[in-house]
Formats: sequence, structure tokens, C-alpha cells
Amino acid sequence: MLALVTGASKGIGRAIALELAKNGFNVAINYNRSSESAEKLRDEIKTLGVNTEIFQADVSNYEQVTSLMKSVKDSMKESISVLVNNAGITRDTLLMRMKPEDWQAVLNTNLNAAFYCTREVIRDMAKARYGRIINIASVVGLTGNAGQANYAASKAGIIGLTKSVAREYAERGITVNAIAPGFIETDMTEVLKPEVKEGILQSIPVHKIGSPEDVAKAVAFFASEASAYITGQVLAVDGGMTMC
Ligand code: NAI
Repeated sequence: MLALVTGASKGIGRAIALELAKNGFNVAINYNRSSESAEKLRDEIKTLGVNTEIFQADVSNYEQVTSLMKSVKDSMKESISVLVNNAGITRDTLLMRMKPEDWQAVLNTNLNAAFYCTREVIRDMAKARYGRIINIASVVGLTGNAGQANYAASKAGIIGLTKSVAREYAERGITVNAIAPGFIETDMTEVLKPEVKEGILQSIPVHKIGSPEDVAKAVAFFASEASAYITGQVLAVDGGMTMC
């Protein structure tokens, strides 16, 4: 079975691609800029004995998404059974300082891209009467966060998208779930000031920052047969930070 992971060359996406490969999935690796890290990941996944290839595309661009899906199908010689909408960016600042470009860039990458990718894979999944769509949201999509109006809105949006598509396609054997990571150690959180990180750590009941693998394991569950009776759900992978 083939899984496509968007924004997979580093961070959480990379860990997801590896975990799915370890679980026997063939993996299409989407990347936006750095082909070097995508190639490294491809070589690592190849050693696991599954089929894998890298595909450059800016998933916030609809035309690029349509040609991405065509290239994946043509070169992997199978249709996508598992879609992981992982690509994401932040442009944090307080509302008054947030430029419309900051708002649009974040919504385009974090929300529009998930819609584009979902729209382009759903027909094949419906035909196969099988599919798994896993959207990477965030706990701030549930709670909101000062300085992240654009990011939190995009992640709240992805939760609405998840539940709506889950309802539309439940009868076709397609499950659609979201994962809401809390504070995970990647380049995205690397930029935060030490005092901000310390404050966040205090708010996590398990008193630990999460790893990309923590998220990847939850994705593997939603990608598997074991989660067949679960759809439209949001699973927080956050060390107990939100509990809502
Ligand atoms: P990261 O910055 O390490 O990786 C993001 C990946 O997305 C990169 O590979 C980047 O090239 C790719 N990407 C960005 N724009 C793209 C585009 N237009 N087309 C294709 N690829 C694109 O960030 P991280 O932490 O691995 O984030 C992964 C996902 O997890 C994101 O959706 C993020 O919002 C979410 N998340 C991360 C949390 C954290 O604490 N790190 C917490 C909650 C959610």
C-alpha cells in the first residue's frame, strides 16, 4: 500500500515517512525545497525494503498538487491509500503586526494544501473503497494561542476539514482523522526563546518535550487496519498539555 507524506524531508514528516516504511508501506516523499535531505531520507527508507521516491512540489499551489499526484501515480505504479497532510509553516506575530501576507501564506500552506491534496486523492480512494487520511493539526487549533492567530486558524480549519470529509466518505471505507501535536522538538520549535520553551515545559504534565517519533507512531495507528472504526477524531499527542 502506498502512503504520501507532504513536507516529509525533515522534522515530523520525516519521522512519519520512516515509521510508515517500517510498517511496510511504500512511501512517496513530498518535499518543497531541499532535495538533499529528501534524497537522504529516500536512501534510508530504501534500506527497509519498500518502494519509495521523492517528489518536489509546493503543496500550497493547486496546479503543483495536481501534477504531484499524477507523478506519484505514474512513477510508483499504484494509487495512494494513505495521505498524510503534514506540510506546515509558522509566521508568528501579534495580530496588529500580522500582515495579510503572513495570514495568507500560513493559511495557504497549512489549510489550503490539505484541501488540495485531499481533493486529488479522494476519487481513487473512493473507487478502491479504502483510504486513510491523516491531517497534522496542532493543539493551538483547539485552544488558540496569542501571536499565532494565522497558525491557530489554519489548524482549527484543518480540524473542520477532517470532520467534514470524514462524514462525507465514511461509507466508502475512508477514515479521516487529525493529530494535534503539542510541543515537539523540530526546526519549527527550535526558533523559540529558551524562556518561552521553559514556560511551555511547565505546562506539560509529563514534563517532557515530544519527539517527531511520538507523532509518527500515532500516524501509523491511524494508517493501519487497527483504526478502521475510528473516523473524524482529533488525537492530541501532547504529553497531557490540553486534555480537551
Ligand atoms: P518543520 O519546519 O521541521 O517541517 C515542515 C516541513 O513542511 C518541511 O519539510 C517544509 O519544507 C515542509 N513544507 C513547508 N511548506 C511546504 C509547501 N508549501 N509544500 C511542501 N512542503 C512544505 O516543522 P515540523 O515541526 O516538522 O511540522 C510538521 C507539521 O507538524 C506541521 O504541520 C506543523 O504545523 C505541525 N506541528 C508541529 C508542532 C511542533 O511542535 N513542532 C506542534 C504542532 C503541530
